Amino acid sequence: MGENGFEKWVLTVTAQTPTNIAVIKYWGKRDETLILPINDSISVTLDPNHLCTTTTVAVSPSFEQDRMWLNGKELSLSQGRYQSVLREIRSRATDFEDKEKNIKITKKDWGKLHLHIASYNNFPTAAGLASSAAGLACFVFALAKLMNVKEDESKLSAIARQGSGSACRSLFGGFVKWIMGKDEDGSDSVAVQLADEKHWDDLVIIIAVVSSRQKETSSTSGMRESVETSLLLQHRAKEVVPERIKQMEEAIASRDFASFTQLTCADSNQFHAVCLDTCPPIFYMNDTSHRIISCVEKWNRSEETPQVAYTFDAGPNAVMIARDRKSAAQLLQRLLFYFPPNSDIDLNSYILGDKSILQGAGIHGKNDIEALPTPPEMKDAQKYRGDVSYFICTRPGRGPVVISDVSQSLLNPETGLPK
Ligand code: DP6
Repeated sequence: MGENGFEKWVLTVTAQTPTNIAVIKYWGKRDETLILPINDSISVTLDPNHLCTTTTVAVSPSFEQDRMWLNGKELSLSQGRYQSVLREIRSRATDFEDKEKNIKITKKDWGKLHLHIASYNNFPTAAGLASSAAGLACFVFALAKLMNVKEDESKLSAIARQGSGSACRSLFGGFVKWIMGKDEDGSDSVAVQLADEKHWDDLVIIIAVVSSRQKETSSTSGMRESVETSLLLQHRAKEVVPERIKQMEEAIASRDFASFTQLTCADSNQFHAVCLDTCPPIFYMNDTSHRIISCVEKWNRSEETPQVAYTFDAGPNAVMIARDRKSAAQLLQRLLFYFPPNSDIDLNSYILGDKSILQGAGIHGKNDIEALPTPPEMKDAQKYRGDVSYFICTRPGRGPVVISDVSQSLLNPETGLPK
């Protein structure tokens, strides 16, 4: 540390990390503490312009304890998962020196210095949109940069994994595989990039945030109960997923949308079947989720080749992946036909993210929604107004980045407290 007795410096790093959506699901652990899964999984990273976590981490000799704020509210870091991640990162810290500011931190100092961490999601945390994945990945990535950790993204993914399993896949952009690994210490349970975000850039992703009153079972306890009680999960992990992983890797490598869709939908449906096979059964999808599935299934069947894949995590929200902008526009027309906004909602807050898809669908105002024709493949013209809270239009996106623009820092550079 600096030689002068009274040290006031605050050193900060700000980073931004995306969320991800699994197309072959992780569900079930073989080790609860290290967070080691019972099968490989594959995900698509979502564009951080629309869904991401920004985290600023700071270190200063004037900090008296480790503290963290999420969306401006202080929360405790005492949870075991935060503690394991902090321990892992600190043990990999290396010497740091900034001659200009006269700051010198040795490997040993990092164990004694306290941290301030402020995190912010650019999407509603409570909406059930994998905020923990982006959050934990950003926590690890930003701290690793601050502490001059030299390990690559895959090594960092093994640390993020110990914060939340799905977080390990948010260390990369594009298409990512979490290899379950064999080692007892978890060192080979890491994420690797299968292809970057430019590899298949026709894809458009539309998320339906479904209104729900129900408090859902957390992924952590849900998967624990499935591991304890579901025979279908054993069969899935041993027999089904290994084959699907190979096929999914091929589908991604060759941009085979028909195969990608078949595998994505089947895997989401099997994951929810495992939830039903759990004792007591877990229901994550609701009537709205089921209506979205039948809308997509009927449309796909009426076309020569599938236009949209759907997948659902531990909640009712639908994530739909369209083969290109044209099919995304057609999908949005269908979704808005069935799920028009309530009269008090304006279009701008009903469709978030990449609004150009709306223009592509010929929708410029709310009147255009009311005028949408019944999709030709559907006989049922019933509407479910208000059953979707809003939609987000996005695409596959890049991995974590450091943000050097200090005006974007979430912590005051002098006090190290939230701005
Ligand atoms: C359904 O990563 O949230 O989203 O490891 O206990 O923190 P923990 O669980 P978490 O589980 C995610 C489950 C899922 C599927 C997936 O993302 O692969």
